[in-house]
Amino acid sequence: MARSFRHLVTVTGFLLVTSVYYIYIIVFIQACKPAVRFQQAGFVDYPNWKYVSVRIKRHPESSDPGTPQVVILKRRKLANRTTSSLLYKWNKLKVSPRNAIGNSTTILLLAYQRTGSTLIGSFFNSYPDIFYVYEPLDSVYVASYGIQPGWNVPSDIYTLPSGKERIPPQNELDAMRWIMERIWSCDFASLPLSTLMHPFWFRFLEHVAHFEPYIRCISERGMNLSSLPICTKDHIEKTCGWRFNPSYRTQIEFCGSKMARSFYHDYAADSDDSALNFASYFACLESYRDTIAKCLPLLIENCRKRPIRLIKAVRAPMSLVAGFLDQQPNFKLIHLLRDPLGVVLSRYVNMWSRGFYDFGEVDFYSRSAMSYCRRAYRDIMERVQLEKRYPGRILTLIFDQFANDPENVMKKAFQFVGVRMPAFNKTVEHVSEEMMKEHLRIDQFLANLKNTSVKWHQTLPSFVISQIKDRCKEFYKEVEFGWNY
Ligand SMILES: *[C@@H]1O[C@H](CO)[C@@H](O)[C@H](O)[C@H]1NC(C)=O
Ligand SMILES: *[C@@H]1O[C@H](CO)[C@@H](O)[C@H](O)[C@H]1NC(C)=O
Ligand SMILES: *[C@@H]1O[C@H](CO)[C@@H](O)[C@H](O)[C@H]1NC(C)=O
Ligand SMILES: *[C@@H]1O[C@H](CO)[C@@H](O)[C@H](O)[C@H]1NC(C)=O
Ligand SMILES: *[C@@H]1O[C@H](CO)[C@@H](O)[C@H](O)[C@H]1NC(C)=O
Repeated sequence: MARSFRHLVTVTGFLLVTSVYYIYIIVFIQACKPAVRFQQAGFVDYPNWKYVSVRIKRHPESSDPGTPQVVILKRRKLANRTTSSLLYKWNKLKVSPRNAIGNSTTILLLAYQRTGSTLIGSFFNSYPDIFYVYEPLDSVYVASYGIQPGWNVPSDIYTLPSGKERIPPQNELDAMRWIMERIWSCDFASLPLSTLMHPFWFRFLEHVAHFEPYIRCISERGMNLSSLPICTKDHIEKTCGWRFNPSYRTQIEFCGSKMARSFYHDYAADSDDSALNFASYFACLESYRDTIAKCLPLLIENCRKRPIRLIKAVRAPMSLVAGFLDQQPNFKLIHLLRDPLGVVLSRYVNMWSRGFYDFGEVDFYSRSAMSYCRRAYRDIMERVQLEKRYPGRILTLIFDQFANDPENVMKKAFQFVGVRMPAFNKTVEHVSEEMMKEHLRIDQFLANLKNTSVKWHQTLPSFVISQIKDRCKEFYKEVEFGWNY
């Protein structure tokens, strides 16, 4: 909490500093509107974007001041391929990732919440040749169901509120795959707006170094970490809910279908009231498109310059990996696991990481252990099969090993990625200062890190420890590590 607050303060300070420029830019944009429009029409990088000019105005007689009326002023195609919306492409075009990605090395760091993936990701993020992307898959759920960004808890994606296992349906898998392949191809213009304006990029800017010029550019033009959440909150939250809930049928079925249609930008055809909320939601997003279009080349260019593109994700299932290994010759997987005792303790402390099933206090440890270990075990079994078919392209990391010997574990990881590890102490300093904001001496940082893998000793009662071990028997049997118990 304290950390996110500091992030917020940093972002706010940054916006204050840039607000002077921002005023000039607004004045400038107002003054030369036709010129700006003309420039956008000339963008060749965005063949798939359909430009929709919209104006939102409050209905004068509306008793509900929150229901704006959307006036579609103009719809204009910029290129012939504009109908290739996300869904259309998933189903029909089959854009070949092999061609788009070329010879770049693409990596997925597949992890689980509270397994130390942000910290390990930070080491990659601090390496200049690696284009590192932090958690892009949250936006899959924003774009698919209209949920508040940041509230798609992995435990809810994989565990139903009843405790039964949830296997993400095909539309979610397709969307995850699509978003990752587009990122590895540096094809950001094909991503949904909710990915491109996701608050994570603002909030965790230190964790996505190569996004900096792009985020600075859209921030200078008035966008911030609330831009997307405000659109959601003002227009669709009442209908769709604010967090992902796999048993909320309105969210999954009704909002899901409205959102899917949005990919075609056909919301103007809807005339029922609920659809109007969706129309104003999309109008709200659309109002940022010009800004994003102006700034996106900064991101695309930064990505294209990096030969290694690494995505960290705690929402991706192992079932997607076979396709990546098969279709991308330079794809590699890093599978990150952590001692369930550490994971469960950390989820206990960080309540926001709990899903509906493991939310309360009753039976928390046992439920949380089950939801982590069941999913991890399924992934491990699939990974073992893939390792046979694709030798040398999968690396398993265990956070507890990293915590005890970060230098050697990171050396191995960098070697696997295909680059020499930069000077370790300097990287640790950078990670500790800039990214984790811990301001610790290197030896303190390393001592704390070591402690994270044994903290449960001091914290968890012994009956809880045996409960978790019991829930995770298969995990412990399958994951080879010198577990001391
Ligand atoms: C535009 O797309 C349509 C349908 O895909 C196609 O028939 C037509 O030839 C295309 N026009 C141009 C100018 O490429
Ligand atoms: C990819 O690598 C192959 C073999 O090293 C090479 O022949 C080809 O030109 C490379 N393609 C690109 C787009 O760099
Ligand atoms: C962020 O932008 C919204 C409008 O999108 C504005 O209302 C809000 O005040 C801004 N917040 C900050 C911290 O600048
Ligand atoms: C790295 O930092 C540790 C802890 O402060 C220190 O003992 C070690 O000598 C340093 N190594 C190098 C190469 O500077
Ligand atoms: C490790 O963490 C626990 C729990 O936060 C704390 O009680 C303990 O003092 C720490 N140990 C060391 C050696 O820092």
